[in-house]
Amino acid sequence: MKGIILAGGTGSRLYPLTLVASKQLQPVYDKPMVYYPLTTLIEGGIREFCLISTPHDLPRFQQLLGDGSRLGVSIDYREQTKPSGIAQAFLIAESFIAQDPVTLILGDNIFYGGDAFQRAFNEFHAGASIFAYHVQNPERYGVVEFDEHGWALSIQEKPLEPKSNFAVPGLYLYDREVVAVAKALKPSGRGELEITDLNMEYLKRGQLKVFRLNRGFTWLDAGTSTSLHDASAYVQTIEKRQGIKIGCPEEAAFRRGFISLDQLAAIASRMPNCEYRAYLNEITAEAKEGGQDND
Ligand code: TTP
Repeated sequence: MKGIILAGGTGSRLYPLTLVASKQLQPVYDKPMVYYPLTTLIEGGIREFCLISTPHDLPRFQQLLGDGSRLGVSIDYREQTKPSGIAQAFLIAESFIAQDPVTLILGDNIFYGGDAFQRAFNEFHAGASIFAYHVQNPERYGVVEFDEHGWALSIQEKPLEPKSNFAVPGLYLYDREVVAVAKALKPSGRGELEITDLNMEYLKRGQLKVFRLNRGFTWLDAGTSTSLHDASAYVQTIEKRQGIKIGCPEEAAFRRGFISLDQLAAIASRMPNCEYRAYLNEITAEAKEGGQDND
């Protein structure tokens, strides 16, 4: 399975923050927002990435993440010249996807807890898989309607009168047909290739699975000033309480076996003195004590 991180868009709701740096480069507590979706996919075992952003912001992401080799992964970069919809990502990344299944994650979505995604990646064969998460304000999202047996009946994009409280989070899995399905989509009333229309096409074909994420799972999006602040507060609370970091791609790459203990230690040694470096040193020391290495 390959991974696309979609990190373009307008970021108008975060203006004026987004005048100089894109939304996905803004800090969520102690690290740039894009670290969180990147970590989610590394935790799921993804090693081949394509990051899509605006021509203006793409160089900043390249500066931040490089070619990925530091983390034992590869990262390709592609431009989205205009924000013409989430589903356009599959047209931009056509040659990257080639013949493989792919997962798309939105660059401003933060997930924490559980192994639902890992399992979905491992079990994925064909069609499309998406998730449903109970929220208080479903009208801001794609909303899934279920029948009495728990099968998905419809998905509506930002409905004024939502048929359920189950919103679709920004992580989706597709087989290689996704490019052809995306090519056949027509722009919506707001001029975008809608991810909901793409999912509806898979639903019509009887090829869409919708997995409900349980209560113990956390999904936050950080697209407004309030939700950005809430996400930072959440991450700070967990990190302070547990002495762990959420959204640390170096740690995820080590735990997944993508890099060795020596490589992890070398990454830390190149950082200036900071809390982040101290954390990586702590993990390195703990792993040494526990005899854990990936060599
Ligand atoms: P949104 O939050 O819906 O849009 P936005 O980022 O443009 O923000 P705003 O509404 O405040 O102007 O987008 C969800 C995610 O998808 C976000 O990470 C940006 C990304 N995105 C793209 O990269 N390209 C696109 O064409 C669209 C619509 C979104």
